[in-house]
Amino acid sequence: ATDDILKSLHKQFTIDDQTLFKITTTFLSEISEGLSNYGRAMAMIPTFVKGVPDGSETGTFLALDLGGTNLRVCEVTLQGDQTFSLRQQKYKVSETLKTGEVTTLFDYLADSVDAFLTESSTPSKEPSSLIGSDPYAAVNQDTPYLPLALTFSFPVEQSALDSGVLLTWTKGFSAKNAVGKDVVKLLQDAFDRKHIHVKCVALVNDTVGALLSRAYTSGGCILGAIFGTGTNGAYVEEVSKITKLGDSAAAAAGGEMIVNTEWGAFNNSRSALPTTPYDNKVDRESINPRFQAFEKFISGMYLGEIARNVILSLIDAAPKPILFGGRSSDQLNKQWGLDTALLSEIEEAWEGLGQFSLAPGSVEVTEVEKLRRIQGVLAKRLELSPPDISLADADIVRQACTLIASRAARLSATAVAAILVHTGRARLWDQGEQSSAGLKDEGKRIGVGVDGSLVEFYPNFQTKLRASLRMLIGPEVESRVDIGMAKDGSGVGAALCALVAQRQSQAAR
Ligand code: BG6
Ligand code: GLC
Repeated sequence: ATDDILKSLHKQFTIDDQTLFKITTTFLSEISEGLSNYGRAMAMIPTFVKGVPDGSETGTFLALDLGGTNLRVCEVTLQGDQTFSLRQQKYKVSETLKTGEVTTLFDYLADSVDAFLTESSTPSKEPSSLIGSDPYAAVNQDTPYLPLALTFSFPVEQSALDSGVLLTWTKGFSAKNAVGKDVVKLLQDAFDRKHIHVKCVALVNDTVGALLSRAYTSGGCILGAIFGTGTNGAYVEEVSKITKLGDSAAAAAGGEMIVNTEWGAFNNSRSALPTTPYDNKVDRESINPRFQAFEKFISGMYLGEIARNVILSLIDAAPKPILFGGRSSDQLNKQWGLDTALLSEIEEAWEGLGQFSLAPGSVEVTEVEKLRRIQGVLAKRLELSPPDISLADADIVRQACTLIASRAARLSATAVAAILVHTGRARLWDQGEQSSAGLKDEGKRIGVGVDGSLVEFYPNFQTKLRASLRMLIGPEVESRVDIGMAKDGSGVGAALCALVAQRQSQAAR
């Protein structure tokens, strides 16, 4: 019976190559839909960020980053030689703040910036001492304030570089009275209420931050992607293809513009995504059922919860439990009780990575040893009693984790492939071998910046993503895709946006 159930899990979580091609094709049509229409789930948001940096930019800026694992306040100095220095402070955002009144949440953001400035010795918090001096040359010398860029990692329909309304919350946030409001105004009102002399001059999504910062440090980037608590991508688009801009000034200006795809909402109808009952349960019990479908298969917020549901179903299996002698724990019974970091730790224990890395020259660890490590991890993190976890249990849990994470990595590849195909840099490889002749950037490096806990810490996530990408677009193009971490992307990307805003405001004076 155990074998049958494991086979069934393999079958449900393994996506074959043909299905991956089909998903990528559906991706391409949802991209086009979103570029020509407002109000689509995959929102394809014009960001008003035109062009990407080349590494020569300089300046010191404040950045505030909400939407990842932590709230962060950073001070970023762009040194102009593709390097930067960054000072940052992380703050926790409680569940109460995520789900309470939006003004309370934004008051907390303003307080965190205030605390950061108070704790920093330089520059002085006193704005008058900053005017015309470095760091923080004030944007408008008549008004003393510190310029700050907000990285807000949620879907926001932007109307300019420094304004945009929240379309919907994602990733467990549901603060009241926020949807439909301008988030820059919400933040500015909080600063003003508290007499904090900071002005929010730019608004940027974390994917845009990743794209800009990777472009700054590596000399070129066409896609910024986040695989963390949530997943999303932003890429450089020709303005003429964003047909929903109609005959607006932005459309008339032509050129290129970064588009925030909000691909976490790809295929909300689930017509192409192969959904298991475990996914349905996670979706049904989430605060946004039927939304963010793609994100719920892929990102760090959900993988642990999918694994928890799989594990519970194995504990409850009839006629005989398959895991832990039928015992569970409070931790396992609690929604969101299983963190994706646990899946990561289990895979590290098996692969001998991270804390389980072997010192050079040590003897290879046996499989039984590896499973013992997993037993230890499960006992500790799931608060299970060690005698209830057999070696076979450890092995079953490990296989389930690998299946869930591999599916996430394979699906992630469809998003990257779709952007490459859509922008004319790749062709789908499903018709057998094809030539790369005539493709955009033929023979050149294609820069992709990535960030997020999954791609940074989950063992082999990027390797698996790349393998599926190779299958989808062929080895020649794949070998030219240079995927690199956009470390501190949000801080640096936001600083670059603040710089653009500063230039625009100076040009307007
Ligand atoms: C961080 C960025 O590095 O990565 C955030 O600063 C981003 O803006 C985050 O949201 C994504 O990763 P995670 O895993 O924290 O959601
Ligand atoms: C969610 C948000 C999106 C963000 C992504 C990664 O999908 O909607 O804006 O970029 O998470 O943080």
